[in-house]
Amino acid sequence: MKKLNEEVLSRRTFAIISHPDAGKTTLTEKLLLFGGAIRDAGTVKAKKTGKFATSDWMEIEKQRGISVTSSVMQFDYDGFRVNILDTPGHQDFSEDTYRTLTAVDSAVMIIDSAKGIEEQTLKLFKVCRMRGIPIFTFINKLDRQGKSPLELLAELEEVMGIESYPMNWPIGMGKEFLGIYDRFHNRVEQFRVEEDERFISLTEDGEIAGDHKLKENSLYDQMLEEIMLLNEAGNEFSEERINNGELTPVFFGSALTNFGVQTFLEAYLKFAPEPQPRNSTSGPVDPLSEDFSGFVFKIQANMNPAHRDRIAFLRICSGSFERGMSVTLSRTGKPIKLAQSTQFMADDRSTVDEAVAGDIIGLYDPGVYQIGDTIVSEKELFHYEKLPQFTPELFVRVTAKNVMKQKHFHKGIQQLVQEGAIQLFKTVKTDEYLLGAVGQLQFEVFEHRMKNEYNVEVIMERVGSKIARWIENDEINDNLSSSRSLLVKDRFDKKAFLFENEFALRWFQDKNPEVKLYNPMDMQ
Ligand code: G4P
Repeated sequence: MKKLNEEVLSRRTFAIISHPDAGKTTLTEKLLLFGGAIRDAGTVKAKKTGKFATSDWMEIEKQRGISVTSSVMQFDYDGFRVNILDTPGHQDFSEDTYRTLTAVDSAVMIIDSAKGIEEQTLKLFKVCRMRGIPIFTFINKLDRQGKSPLELLAELEEVMGIESYPMNWPIGMGKEFLGIYDRFHNRVEQFRVEEDERFISLTEDGEIAGDHKLKENSLYDQMLEEIMLLNEAGNEFSEERINNGELTPVFFGSALTNFGVQTFLEAYLKFAPEPQPRNSTSGPVDPLSEDFSGFVFKIQANMNPAHRDRIAFLRICSGSFERGMSVTLSRTGKPIKLAQSTQFMADDRSTVDEAVAGDIIGLYDPGVYQIGDTIVSEKELFHYEKLPQFTPELFVRVTAKNVMKQKHFHKGIQQLVQEGAIQLFKTVKTDEYLLGAVGQLQFEVFEHRMKNEYNVEVIMERVGSKIARWIENDEINDNLSSSRSLLVKDRFDKKAFLFENEFALRWFQDKNPEVKLYNPMDMQ
């Protein structure tokens, strides 16, 4: 093995943030192909559609075709080891999706050029922003007619409030897509031409020298005009601002036709940050430190119902991991031997013997880990920063089907809530249990685990509320509670209102200006 320093510095760990259908699977697959981690196009896709589901995965996962192996994908390229963390979308969207962003050093944002910025991308973007994570943007599907590139950049600025620096610029699009003007490499990359004609180097003035077919096309002139505009009025390239998450480098391309992907990957690897120090109760922890440490950001439960095992996903933050090593769980101060561990590849779960800061490993979890747990190898214990809270948007009222099972019901709820699988609320007036989640899957997993692990069948009824706002001052008149603005307590006994919709929230604020409400996600 190379020296620890070299190993750690070669890591690049990122998540893709996008709205379903923007091309995350397609791009991931192309990246894995470049890295030689898969041999055939279609491997990741097949996984998505469920063809590859292994029989012992949790039932829900099987039905949805997601599996632990696609949660983290790893490949080597040009001396780098790249870890891609999956951020499930659609109904699989959950707090885990958000929490995954606490375990990366950068994010790749994919935008469908025809659709522009979509809801889920925006939600994930906000979390990256909150954490100052550098964001690299890939604007996809240039082989189709989409919005104009200038319009897309304006959207980034207006909707997301992030400045952009286009690393390349499309020449036409859709049926008339001719290629990209690569500002960074000072060359043009042509679309759908023979391999040896693909790249044209440019003069110092950024033009094609001599005669060229491309120069006869008016789209080429239009592109040059836009480039001039960008050079004069656009943002300046700044590695520092990219690293602070203030400026996003933008790449145009087409994942499906594998156009612009390699150029993107190479530029990404050049500018994306290596594993970054993370804050802890003992100050920032240097990833290059010899002492092993990490934190659990996700727990995947019950992948094998016969064994009820779980996997705790650990982001290694410093040092290196060796199978069988002895560590301490900071929360309890108890020693643990890390005998069973998993590393994730696109094709299979393989046993990991060694991994370093920046890598993600899966630890076999007989029920000892909680989300946010810190593991250290040193004698001196410390804790990594608490993981942020995410505001739920879906709520159900939950009861046990069989009233005789109350004890199990309460135990199950308490444990699952503690583990971070779901959020619990109690109505102030009637003491009913409500569960909150950011995605439907969390309810399904909850229901499944209550039945399988605690032997309790639950009844869940949808509550109309969608917007949760906490109250700054707990002194609140309980009579303000109604079905459209339901007063509840969270599991720390903090009071919050659940509003039916934006309108109900505004109406309430107009009527009760003295009640100060806040969204915890805006505060972190
Ligand atoms: P996701 O993981 O973000 O949900 O998106 P995915 O990669 O599955 O892509 C969604 C759809 O967009 C797929 O088409 C895919 O082929 C298409 N797509 C991805 N990148 C490009 C691109 O660069 N250009 C064009 N024209 N299409 C692209 P589908 O019809 O839904 O699926 P499939 O039948 O092709 O598999």
